[in-house]
Amino acid sequence: MIDKILPATVRWSESFTHRTDIGLFPEEQAAVARAVDKRRNEFTTVRACAREALAGIGHPPVPLVPGERGAPGWPAGVVGSMTHCAGYYAAVVARETDVATVGIDAEPHAALPEGVLEAIARPEDLTVLATLPSSAGVAFDRVLFSAKESVYKAWFPVARTFLDFQQATVALAADGTFTARVLVPGPDLLGRPLTGFSGRWIVDGGIVATAITVERDA
Ligand SMILES: CC(C)(COP(=O)(O)OP(=O)(O)OC[C@H]1O[C@@H](n2cnc3c(N)ncnc32)[C@H](O)[C@@H]1OP(=O)(O)O)[C@@H](O)C(=O)NCCC(=O)NCCS
Repeated sequence: MIDKILPATVRWSESFTHRTDIGLFPEEQAAVARAVDKRRNEFTTVRACAREALAGIGHPPVPLVPGERGAPGWPAGVVGSMTHCAGYYAAVVARETDVATVGIDAEPHAALPEGVLEAIARPEDLTVLATLPSSAGVAFDRVLFSAKESVYKAWFPVARTFLDFQQATVALAADGTFTARVLVPGPDLLGRPLTGFSGRWIVDGGIVATAITVERDA
């Protein structure tokens, strides 16, 4: 599913069930030593996905340990992103020579719980949301939430600063794309200040997925 919103420079792997077919590296085991089963399962499953994605760019398995603010430490020369939610797990990676940053997120396809949209959306986000067709059967509020999480996951590895939901505006489009504008100063990326991202979204099999890929040659 996630491949439908990724360019060919990105390798991916996804799973719709828990995977227990890999062993964790000692550093990874230490990271979830005191975690509950659910956390250990999602951590392991998404790392199984990440190893397959890494193999797709010819990279051997390596420990992927949560680092600063939870961002996974990818091997030198590799960019990547991981996501997990009930019934869906995915990892994407690319060579840094092809892709400057990438962020993915997945969510159950259901309307956001009461009060969440108000907390995560800016007025501009809501204005665009109101123009989207309710007849499409898409929980656009959830897509917005997921898009903002993808923004953060693409932003953090290059900016190394937290980004609040109110510090970026996301304009969703019904055609499966979105445009994000970051409202705080960003680092230089590809020779110019990073001011936002273009992304894509998809709803399939009860899951919303969003992805941002900043390709060097785009
Ligand atoms: C970090 C965050 C985005 C994760 O999203 P989530 O829906 O809770 O969880 P997901 O399953 O989709 O993603 C979890 C994975 O994200 C990755 N991740 C965590 N922190 C990250 C960070 N700072 N940068 C990049 N990736 C990160 C990790 O790989 C993690 O999985 P792991 O712990 O097994 O390695 C979320 O918890 C958060 O802190 N959001 C607040 C910031 C934000 O979204 N701002 C919006 C700006 S517009």
